[in-house]
Amino acid sequence: MEATNLVDLISENGITLNKSGTNYKGLCPFHSEKTPSFNVNPLRGYFYCFGCKISGDGIKFLMQHSRLSFVEAVGVLANKANIPLEKKSIISPNRNLDEDEGLNCLKDAVLFYKAKLSTQDGENTANYLRKRKVSERMWKKFDLGASPNDWHGVLNYLKGKNKLVKNLFRTGLVKFSEKSESYYDTFRARLMFPIKDIHGRCIGFGARTLNPEDNPKYLNSPETTYYRKSNVLYGLFEGLSSIRKLRQLIFVEGYLDVIRLHENGFSEAVATCGTALTHNHLKIIKRYAENIILIFDGDNAGKVAALKYTHLLLSYAFESYVVSLPEGEDPDSFLLIKGKDAFEKMLGNKIPALDYLVKETLKKFENSIQGRMQCMEELLPTLSNISDMKRRQLTLMAISERMGIPPEMITQELQKKSNKNLSKLNINGSIQSLSSSKVSQDELWLLQSLLRKGNLWPIVRQHLSPEEFKTPYFKKLYARLLEFPDSVFQPFDPLKLEKSDPRLFQAVMNLLKEEIRIHDFGLSLMRIKERNLELSFRDSILKSESNEERAKIGARRRKEEKKIKDVKLLFDGNSTC
Ligand code: CTP
Ligand code: MN
Repeated sequence: MEATNLVDLISENGITLNKSGTNYKGLCPFHSEKTPSFNVNPLRGYFYCFGCKISGDGIKFLMQHSRLSFVEAVGVLANKANIPLEKKSIISPNRNLDEDEGLNCLKDAVLFYKAKLSTQDGENTANYLRKRKVSERMWKKFDLGASPNDWHGVLNYLKGKNKLVKNLFRTGLVKFSEKSESYYDTFRARLMFPIKDIHGRCIGFGARTLNPEDNPKYLNSPETTYYRKSNVLYGLFEGLSSIRKLRQLIFVEGYLDVIRLHENGFSEAVATCGTALTHNHLKIIKRYAENIILIFDGDNAGKVAALKYTHLLLSYAFESYVVSLPEGEDPDSFLLIKGKDAFEKMLGNKIPALDYLVKETLKKFENSIQGRMQCMEELLPTLSNISDMKRRQLTLMAISERMGIPPEMITQELQKKSNKNLSKLNINGSIQSLSSSKVSQDELWLLQSLLRKGNLWPIVRQHLSPEEFKTPYFKKLYARLLEFPDSVFQPFDPLKLEKSDPRLFQAVMNLLKEEIRIHDFGLSLMRIKERNLELSFRDSILKSESNEERAKIGARRRKEEKKIKDVKLLFDGNSTC
């Protein structure tokens, strides 16, 4: 790493660093923040973020930031430093994707379809692109192509290049017909949109028919080991540098919308590939952008999607906005007809996603007290999905303001909801019925083994307080159990509770009913404590104002970590059940 300066490397990747003492500081590219906590130490060749605590050297930076494999990252650094790398001199822990035969097939297929655009086979497609006013600059940028009207076009071409049919099949480029017991091209006589991963490798295709009568209009690659539609965004590779620079992303619905936006200078536009936007997509986006603008068609389907997506977006720390197009337009047609300035103006009128959500949800119900109650009812699950408590509280306040409902009332309703969920647990008698994201598995396991291992109670009592539980239901249950003397648990007979405290009996039985696998009690206890430490550490770091303060917080954390390890030792050898 000495040969290349880490500060240069990181700056070249679009992160602005400012000198601060011997270090450099900037906004962390790995999490969303407003004040810089990303530190780079050029002398040690090391970066560290006080916010999300990611750290490492140049290789780690490239692996995480540019999603490179170890080998690729080393290659980039060696290249920058003009160090010739002997091929195969590095032993990769990962498989080398460059040598993956499936990916090579896809790469060749892109070239094949692309070349067809300038031949007789692809004439219709080229004309179609011209008719739709897609410039040749975009043909190149997106590697557009034409699949010939041939059952064995790409198949024969790739066979001719010594590719194995089984590899072709794995990529979704060909299908197998049971009837004729032979393989055939998946894509025929269509306009081909190569779908690329973050490194620019083609992993699949979207393919549009040229014939308005044809069904489906778009045919996408089947899910393969390369192409998982809930993990890819069309245009992300092509737009990545803009997205990183602007920390912004524009989400549209179609392939041609993406291309039209790129053509007009909005290179931060992406779309999903014929599927809904999911948590996976948002997690990917989170790496590169803080702002999302969602553009939807003005029709009913667009409205439904916008509402659905704003619910989804609220649980993420994005600045998110919604733009609704006039009825009957999509971004492509809008830009073509009304032009770039009109588009820009419309973007300027974007509405914060939360405002959009509240406004549109209110619209669904009558303008009455009853209507507002229903509206709130609809927003509550989204609120309770926000796991970051501060964010949840702030969103709650914002909703309260927009709906004219006191925040306490919303809090109360939220509380009622979560209580209801908990009593559901009692009635259904199954822990699984609680959505697993809301239940800490470690807390669950810990309680389950505690109820089975009575001898643990005396020590646990001293080292774990109910406040350390995050799942409210478990917290209550543990507090209630602590009220009993140790002797009750040695051995514990829940039947004794049946009459005296039927609700507690029910709750305990629900926990005991589940088979539990071999389980290390000390480990769960440690994980619960480490999680809590991490949370409070984050909180302190966020509130801290100086480096000295942060250093102190760090030192305190290390001390606490040591304590946790000591507590775990108390249980080792004694706690597996
Ligand atoms: N889509 C799909 N399969 C279909 C129809 C649509 O995968 N049968 C996806 C495509 O990604 C498409 C997007 O949904 O780009 C939006 O569909 P639509 O609005 O119907 O098409 P447009 O993108 O407007 O395409 P075009 O302008 O070419 O008609
Ligand atoms: Mn369209």
